[in-house]
Amino acid sequence: MSVSVNSAVNAEAKNVLSQFAATGVQSSFHGRHISPQILADLNGGNWRLKDYEARGGYQALRKILAQGEGVGMTPDQVIADVKLSGLRGRGGAGFPTGLKWSFMPRQFPGQKYLVCNSDEGEPGTCKDRDIMQFNPHSVIEGMAIAAYAMGITVGYNYIHGEIFATYQRFEEAIEEARAAGLLGEKILGSNFDFQLHASHGFGAYICGEETALLESLEGKKGQPRFKPPFPASFGLYGKPTTINNTETFAAVPWLIRNGGQAYLECGKPNNGGTKIYSVSGDVEFPGNYEVPMGTPFATLLELAGGVRKGRTLKAVIPGGSSSPVLPAAVMMECTMDYDSIAKAGSMLGSGAVIVMDDSRCMVESLKRLSYFYMHESCGQCTPCREGTGWLWRVVERIHNGLGRSSDMDLLNSVADNIQGRTICALGDAAAMPVRAMIKHFRHEFEAMIGQKTPQANASAAVQA
Ligand SMILES: Cc1cc2nc3c(=O)[nH]c(=O)nc-3n(C[C@H](O)[C@H](O)[C@H](O)COP(=O)(O)O)c2cc1C
Ligand code: SF4
Repeated sequence: MSVSVNSAVNAEAKNVLSQFAATGVQSSFHGRHISPQILADLNGGNWRLKDYEARGGYQALRKILAQGEGVGMTPDQVIADVKLSGLRGRGGAGFPTGLKWSFMPRQFPGQKYLVCNSDEGEPGTCKDRDIMQFNPHSVIEGMAIAAYAMGITVGYNYIHGEIFATYQRFEEAIEEARAAGLLGEKILGSNFDFQLHASHGFGAYICGEETALLESLEGKKGQPRFKPPFPASFGLYGKPTTINNTETFAAVPWLIRNGGQAYLECGKPNNGGTKIYSVSGDVEFPGNYEVPMGTPFATLLELAGGVRKGRTLKAVIPGGSSSPVLPAAVMMECTMDYDSIAKAGSMLGSGAVIVMDDSRCMVESLKRLSYFYMHESCGQCTPCREGTGWLWRVVERIHNGLGRSSDMDLLNSVADNIQGRTICALGDAAAMPVRAMIKHFRHEFEAMIGQKTPQANASAAVQA
C-alpha cells in the first residue's frame, strides 16, 4: 500500500518537475543573439563532446598545453590574457576574473580547489542551466583552463538542486571528457592533472553565496561564513579555493582561443566579451539573449520582441531581483554593461532583465520580492532574519489597504538597518529593491496607503 502511495507521489512530483525542465526551445535557440560565443550554433541536441569539438571546442585547452618550441602557454600567460580580456565575473558582483585568479597562492603546498557556482537561484536568472544543459563542455574546458592557470588539481561544479536532469547531463559530459583524456591525469599527454566532479544542492538560494556553497559542498548546513578570510586563502575544507560562476568559466575557451585582446574588443573597455541576459516579464519573447557587452538596452528589448501586447514600458529590474529597479526613461538611455548600469543607480548583477509594463503594480511587485528574501534568509544574523520579515509585513499591509502614513519612513528605516550590517550580501539584496521602489515609485505606495482598500490583485485591476 505504502509503495503505491509513494509511487503515485513520485509520479506527481515528476510531472510537476517536468514543467520546469529546461527545453531551451523558447529560451536559447531563437537565433536572435548578436555575435554569440557561448550559445552560438546550439540546437538542443548538439551538446556532446564530438559536437563541441566540431565547433572548435577544446582547442583552447590544446593551445595552452601544446608542447614544443614557441607553443603552449604558461599559467602566468593564461592569467595575463584573462586580465587583458576585461572578463568580469558573471555571478553577480562583476569582479575581474583574471585578478581573482591571481589571488590564488599557486605555490601553496597542500590541496587547492576550483569551484564552479552553478547554484543559479536569483529570480529571473536562467542562463547557467541552459549553458550546462546545451553546452556543458564549454564549462568543463573553462574549468580545466582555470585549474591549469592556478595550479589546481581538483574541481567541483555545484549545481542547483532543482535542475537534476541538468546535473545528470553534466555528469555525462564529465564522463565523455574523462574518457577522451581531457580530464584526469596527464591531460593530453602533458604533466597537468585535473579531476572534476559534479555535486548538487537542494534548491536553497543562499547556497549560491560562495561561502554558503562551500559549507554545503562540505556536507554542512548552507550558511555563509564571515569574510575575511576569503576563499582564496580559506575555502573548501579550509584550503585555498577559487570560485567562479558557470558563465564565467564558459566564456574562457573562446577568450583563450581568440586571445584576450579579441575578447576585450567584443565588448567595451573594462567590460569585455559577450553576456547572456535572461530577459523575462512583459516582453513578447522571454528568453536568453547573448549580446556584446555595451549593447544598448533598447536593442536587447527589441531582440526580445519589445514590450508585450504593445503596452508601454514602465520599469526594468536590470540584473536579477537583488538589483534596484530603474524607471523606463533611465533604462532606455543605458547600455548593458557593468559600468553603465551602475552609473544609472543599479547593478548588472547576474544579467536577469525583468521587464515591467504599465500594468504592473509596484507595491505588489515589491511584496513578492520581499517575500522571497524573507523566505530565503538563512537566519544567522538578526538584521536580515528579522528585517526581511518586517519589510514583507509592512509592504503586505500596504497592499491589503491597511497601510499607515508612517510606513514609507518605516520601510526606509528597516532597509537602513539591514544594509551593510549582515554577514552576507543577501541582506543588502533584500534592502536595495525596497529603497529603489520607494525612490522611483513612492507615489504608488502613497496612493495605496491613502485609498485604504485591499488590492487583491492590483495589476489585474490596472489591466482591466
Ligand atoms: C545571496 C547570494 C546568492 C548568490 N547566488 C549566486 C549564484 O546563484 N550563482 C553565482 O554564480 N553567484 C552567486 N552569488 C555570488 C557568489 O557569492 C560569487 O560572488 C560568485 O559565484 C563569484 O563568481 P564570479 O566571480 O564568476 O561572478 C550569490 C551571492 C549572494 C550574496
Ligand atoms: S545576511 Fe541573511 S542570508 Fe546572509 S548570513 Fe545573514 S541571515 Fe543569512
